[in-house]
Amino acid sequence: MTAETVLDNARIVLADQIVEGSIVLRDGVIADIAPRAGRSGEDMGGDFIIPGLVELHTDHLEGHYAPRPKVRWNPIAAVLAHDAQVATAGITTVLDALRVGMDEDADLTAADIRKLAEAIEDSVQQDRLRADHFIHLRCEVSAPDCLTAFANFDGDERVRLASLMDHAPGQRQFVDLETYAYYYQRKLKLTDRDFQKFCEKRMAESAKNSSPNRSFIAAACKERGIVLASHDDATVSHVDEAIEQGVRVAEFPTTEEAARASKEAGLGVLMGAPNVMRGASHSGNVSARTLAGDGLLDILSSDYIPFSLIQSAFFLGDVVEGISLPQAVAMVSKNPAEAVGLTDRGVIEPGRRADLVRVRVDDHVPVVRTVWRQGRRVA
Ligand SMILES: [Fe+2]
Repeated sequence: MTAETVLDNARIVLADQIVEGSIVLRDGVIADIAPRAGRSGEDMGGDFIIPGLVELHTDHLEGHYAPRPKVRWNPIAAVLAHDAQVATAGITTVLDALRVGMDEDADLTAADIRKLAEAIEDSVQQDRLRADHFIHLRCEVSAPDCLTAFANFDGDERVRLASLMDHAPGQRQFVDLETYAYYYQRKLKLTDRDFQKFCEKRMAESAKNSSPNRSFIAAACKERGIVLASHDDATVSHVDEAIEQGVRVAEFPTTEEAARASKEAGLGVLMGAPNVMRGASHSGNVSARTLAGDGLLDILSSDYIPFSLIQSAFFLGDVVEGISLPQAVAMVSKNPAEAVGLTDRGVIEPGRRADLVRVRVDDHVPVVRTVWRQGRRVA
């Protein structure tokens, strides 16, 4: 059976231009784009139609499952709540970040993480979800339990991306110990003396575990075809190590130097959409707007605020000269999709998946009005 939908009178954001007209969706894919209106279809009232957003790094699922310390919610209900939130933010493909290796701010165990992974898999199989879901393993390589937790995902084909991170004090995101203290001492409510001991313990763990865990996971991902990301790279030597280990995506480089070296090596440079919106990194590192202005930004990720992804797409061009709407939209659709090998989506062109978002912009805020995944309305 052929299911056809025509979206008429739209401003369609293509890869390199915006055209006014209609889009024909047939059997879950984009069948045709007519530059001028004239077909009879659903009237989009001149709203934008953009490709469904592709999100590579959202930490948001864990919060629905563990909303308070010691509280655990039904994992399927948590996945559904998270899914609804991302879909209504225009995200049609999401890589849910699940942690592997617990650092001290984690209230979750490796068993909790497995429950979430199973709830995702079961919900995909039972067709409960609005967005297309994959797993991103955030591997805290400094943690003593990193490899045992990683082994819980042996053979799990939902895993599409793994990032290698080290959040020990003195490393990468926290080269500056004052920023580290601001982040962790307050969060863990430690006295100065206990915080000092805590730092020494974390630094010793990093010195012992990070290098072998990084190499092990990089080799395992290469064998399994899982895309690798570096995380919080700060120096050229971090980037050199990443390249040697087969990394394809540089997540949240903390300095312009690291972003430039990553870009020159052909890595996709990913920064946080909240950083774009706020004009600064929450931990005092390089600004995403600065990188965009210097041509060093490829991919945006919602990080800790799902709605920030679509906001940043409609906002980046307002604050960074020379960035068009199609370019900013590519940073939340085409570029992240291609970075993880999903070449069947991310662009509005015939033959690609009909993953689309209807958006009206009111008072500088994009209002998501309708979302389709493979031609089916999901939000
Ligand atoms: Fe980080």
